[in-house]
Formats: sequence, C-alpha cells, structure tokens
Amino acid sequence: MCLFKNQLSKVPILLIILYVICGQAFADVVNKAVDAGKNEYARSCENCHGASGKGDGPYSSRLIIKPADLTVLAKTNNGAIPISSIYRMIDGSDDGAFHGGSRMPVWGNRYRSESRFELGPDNSQTFVRGRIFELLIYLDTLQVP
Ligand code: HEC
Repeated sequence: MCLFKNQLSKVPILLIILYVICGQAFADVVNKAVDAGKNEYARSCENCHGASGKGDGPYSSRLIIKPADLTVLAKTNNGAIPISSIYRMIDGSDDGAFHGGSRMPVWGNRYRSESRFELGPDNSQTFVRGRIFELLIYLDTLQVP
C-alpha cells in the first residue's frame, strides 16, 4: 500500500514530463511546417508579395495589378484567414472568383508533378495539400493584429 501510494505521488510528475515531451514534439512539428512554408514562400511568393508579405517584392513595381498585402488577410476577414479560398487560389481550382480574375500564377500543377516524382501518383493529393497548408501556416505568422 505504501509502495502504491509512493507511485501514485509520482503520477503528476510523470504527467508533467509527458506533457512537456508531447508539447515539445507538437511544437517541433508546427515549427517544421512553418519553416517549410517559409522556404516555399521565399521560392514562390516573395518576388511579388515581398519578404514581409506587404506586396512590395522586387517584381511588384513591374506589375500592372499590385500584389496584395498578405499581412492583412485575417484583419480584413473578421480576424481569420480565409483558408479555403486562399487554398483554392494557390491550388488553381479557384479560377479567379476569389478576386475577380486571377493575375497570379497557380502552383497546384507544379506541386502535383513534384509529388508524382517524389511519391508516385497515389499520394499526390495528400502531398499537394501538405505543401499548401505549410504555406497557409506560414502566412498566418505574417498577420498583423
Ligand atoms: C507574379 C507575381 C505573384 C506571385 C509570384 C504570387 N502572387 Fe499572390 N498575388 C499577385 C497579385 C498581382 C495579386 C492581386 C491581384 C489579383 O487580384 O489577382 C495577388 C493576390 C494574392 C492573394 C489574394 C489576397 C487578397 O486579399 O485578395 C493571395 C492570398 C496571394 N496572392 C497569395 C500568394 C502566395 C501564397 C503566393 C506564393 C505561393 C503568391 N501569392 C505568389 C501576384 C503574385
């Protein structure tokens, strides 16, 4: 009984250790996704939308339609990023209804062909979703309050 009692007293400590380990593991997963999104943003978006996301990338002065300010996506949408319309816009399945005719390149096909190369056709859609969600998670970090 005494032994049992001693072990019981360890339960909170074990729970705390578990919480710290799991919390850390979860934070690592999120941080990796943010990093991957950041790399993808630098590769595919930054030239137009700028490193800060404010639409001031090096190509912006040459474009007739200015790239959108991506730091206010949440602010201009009642505090939440409009995930599904942005997803469809990047993927290319939204043919422009989101902002009146897309002047922006789409990436769905590139991600799909990269995924076939890396994973084969079966996992293609999952791969594409992952790539776009990484971008969305990174865009979330750029939002102004
Ligand atoms: C060649 C330049 C260019 C590149 C590269 C580019 N964009 Fe855009 N983007 C634009 C322009 C121009 C607009 C605004 C014009 C429009 O309505 O289509 C826009 C609009 C947007 C919008 C809509 C915002 C709103 O409030 O309407 C989002 C979201 C967006 N871009 C995300 C991205 C992401 C994510 C990437 C990288 C995967 C990217 N863009 C790459 C030029 C670009």
